[in-house]
Amino acid sequence: MIKKGIILAGGLGTRMSPLTKAVNKQLLPIYDKPLIFYPLSVLMLAGIKEILIIVNKGKLAQFKKVLPNGNNLGIKINYAEQKHPRGLPDAFLVGEKFIGKNNVALILGDNFFYGQSLTKKLKDCVKLNEGATVILHPVKNPSAYGVAKVNKRNKIIKIIEKPKKNFSNLAVTGLYFFDNKVVNLSKKLKLSKRNEVEIVDLLNQYKRKNKLRAEFLGRGGAWLDTGSIKDFYDASAFVAALENRQGLKIACLEEIALKNKWIDKKNILDAIKFYGKCEYTQYLLNLVKKTK
Ligand code: G1P
Repeated sequence: MIKKGIILAGGLGTRMSPLTKAVNKQLLPIYDKPLIFYPLSVLMLAGIKEILIIVNKGKLAQFKKVLPNGNNLGIKINYAEQKHPRGLPDAFLVGEKFIGKNNVALILGDNFFYGQSLTKKLKDCVKLNEGATVILHPVKNPSAYGVAKVNKRNKIIKIIEKPKKNFSNLAVTGLYFFDNKVVNLSKKLKLSKRNEVEIVDLLNQYKRKNKLRAEFLGRGGAWLDTGSIKDFYDASAFVAALENRQGLKIACLEEIALKNKWIDKKNILDAIKFYGKCEYTQYLLNLVKKTK
């Protein structure tokens, strides 16, 4: 069972400059919420209440302003600073103490997931006792990602980081579930050509031992990443279209916490005070009205 999750929200966001000169990328808006709300909502939907957010050195104060400690969401948010971005597996070294003897989920701070049966899939993934699980999703430009090929039984037979030759359209999304071995395995990784430790090297070690599982969002699911300004714009348009049509918010953290029975009406009223007069607050007010 996985009860702990890490959000890797480090990185310099250089590709998004000048937007990221003063503000961390994960605090920039995807429509009506900071980007970090979306990966955090995914961990919460998975039922994970103990969370570590890894941020870039010097950026802690910015994050704490909007996500102080998780109390009001019925979760515990811990923070750690990363001196330099060294690749995704570095999260398991920065987070070693937080992880302790537990299994752990990792989500990248700029990944966005949406889909009908997402919660059920996430709940299945956190049942992991041994090995690792990745979520695969088709993309038009696989060479920008880690890519996996599966056989007829959906077993991963090949996995490569940013392959030059196209061998599969299944990208490895930025959401991973690992057993506790991941900490020691991460310590032994060598730097790649881009001078980083690579998540794919880690996944390949699990694959060699026959311990790597693939899960799929399915074609009705959406996986977006937000590496560039255009991605931000596209993800914002996606969220706006769904929210304004349905009147239901994606990644409203208080709504998820309430549904999970981690908080009650009083916490929502506190959140309303915290956010002040805004559209998000209006949505929370409606939630309170609907809650008995
Ligand atoms: C990273 C991983 C890659 C994965 C991607 C998902 O890529 O290395 O395997 O597919 O995240 O967003 P990067 O953001 O480092 O280019």
